Amino acid sequence: MSTYRIEGGAPLRGSITASGAKNAATKQIVASLLTDEEVILHNVPRIGDVNITMDIVRSLGAKVEWSGDSTLHIQAATVGSGEVPVAFSGLNRIPVLLIGPLLHRYGTASVPLLGGDDIGARPLNFHVQTLQKLGATITFEPDCWRATASRLKGALIDLPYPSVGATESALLSSVLAEGTTVIQNAAVEPEIIDTILLLQKMGALIAVEVDRTIVVEGVRRLRGAEHRLLTDRIEVASFAAAAVATNGDVFIEGAEQGQIMAFLNALRRVGGEFEIRPDGIRFFRGNDLRSIALETDVHPGFATDWQQPFVVLLTQATGLSVIHETVFEQRFGYTGVLQEMGATIELYKTCLGGKTCRYRYGDHPHSCLVQGPTPLHGTTMQIPDLRAGFSYVIAALVGKGASSIDGAQYVERGYSHIPEKIEQLGGRCLVV
Ligand code: EPU
Repeated sequence: MSTYRIEGGAPLRGSITASGAKNAATKQIVASLLTDEEVILHNVPRIGDVNITMDIVRSLGAKVEWSGDSTLHIQAATVGSGEVPVAFSGLNRIPVLLIGPLLHRYGTASVPLLGGDDIGARPLNFHVQTLQKLGATITFEPDCWRATASRLKGALIDLPYPSVGATESALLSSVLAEGTTVIQNAAVEPEIIDTILLLQKMGALIAVEVDRTIVVEGVRRLRGAEHRLLTDRIEVASFAAAAVATNGDVFIEGAEQGQIMAFLNALRRVGGEFEIRPDGIRFFRGNDLRSIALETDVHPGFATDWQQPFVVLLTQATGLSVIHETVFEQRFGYTGVLQEMGATIELYKTCLGGKTCRYRYGDHPHSCLVQGPTPLHGTTMQIPDLRAGFSYVIAALVGKGASSIDGAQYVERGYSHIPEKIEQLGGRCLVV
């Protein structure tokens, strides 16, 4: 258990380089199991979730090695087991994605129960229905799922909601299936498109059609490939929010405009500014910060993973901001700590926004009002989950005085070199 000691109150200034995307890296390590040839991934972030996923595929017989700081070589010449050890249960959301590849390579699959952040119920019914449609038989045991299939067969999969994970399950299971799979109402997050690019290099036939439809024509075999991961748009938005919240000026090398358009619009509406350069984006304040009404959504909407850093920024904006979280039902848990630090925040179970929302009639505090600006002061906090963790880091950087943030390993599951990047920007973050 490590702790960050952050001394707040100073603007972040300078430049950092964004890492590769967590939510593409882990999926592409899994995709590498679909071939017996070598897959080389560049721009892979050095984060906890990547380490866990590397250990999982190693346990199945794959060779996985780093070369340099961010290049990963993966080769699953043979897959020696279809069983992901139960020791990996509860760690992240990746094991379920292994079912399709393991069925193709080994014929049976057994994966432990999932972990990941406690941000809602996070059911897996879409994954199960997807695999069953493709012809897998799934049985549930107290500590794992077992799947069998002689050969997966293409099918029509109509997702009830554009789930990132279920879309990835469908893709990773259908690329080597017999026949054509049509995924309707698919998620089209940039990380998914990036994984499709890798699969295409490996020999897959995948078309991203209009209206969230993805068509996969199964092929008999996939080959090795080399691929550079896209930039982590969540890390970019997190440091951008930190720059503007602290009234700083930060250039993020590698930040890509096309992946964060909704974030840039919201940032500009609250008074933040940005300058798009060929090699990255510079973030700073253009005006006094003012409040906004915001609703999270699937891509290309305002991402749910940007919500937490943005709320910290809104504590520094003048007026009443309204945030409606429509993707996960329980993603405001972190606001209690912000209140202790001086923020004025209230949670509501009603939908404070006009978007269609699955939580309209539920009992979930999924809307939030933020009255700003409020000075924040340092405190001691315990990180509950990844994105909440980074919002605490930003709040500590904004706040006057020292903060102590316990449970740094939660935030390091998804962000690399946090203390180094903060120090590079003139902030004070010690690991104790
Ligand atoms: N859902 C179901 N049934 C399912 C699958 C999903 O009801 O079988 C619901 C979820 O409960 C949720 C919604 O669908 O309400 C969206 O979930 P989704 O499947 O899209 O999320 P995920 O695949 O579990 C990924 C990212 C999350 C990110 C979401 C949304 C990874 C490892 N995780 O989760 O990232 O917030 O998509 O974009 O890719 C993070 O990086 O900190 C993180 C939580």
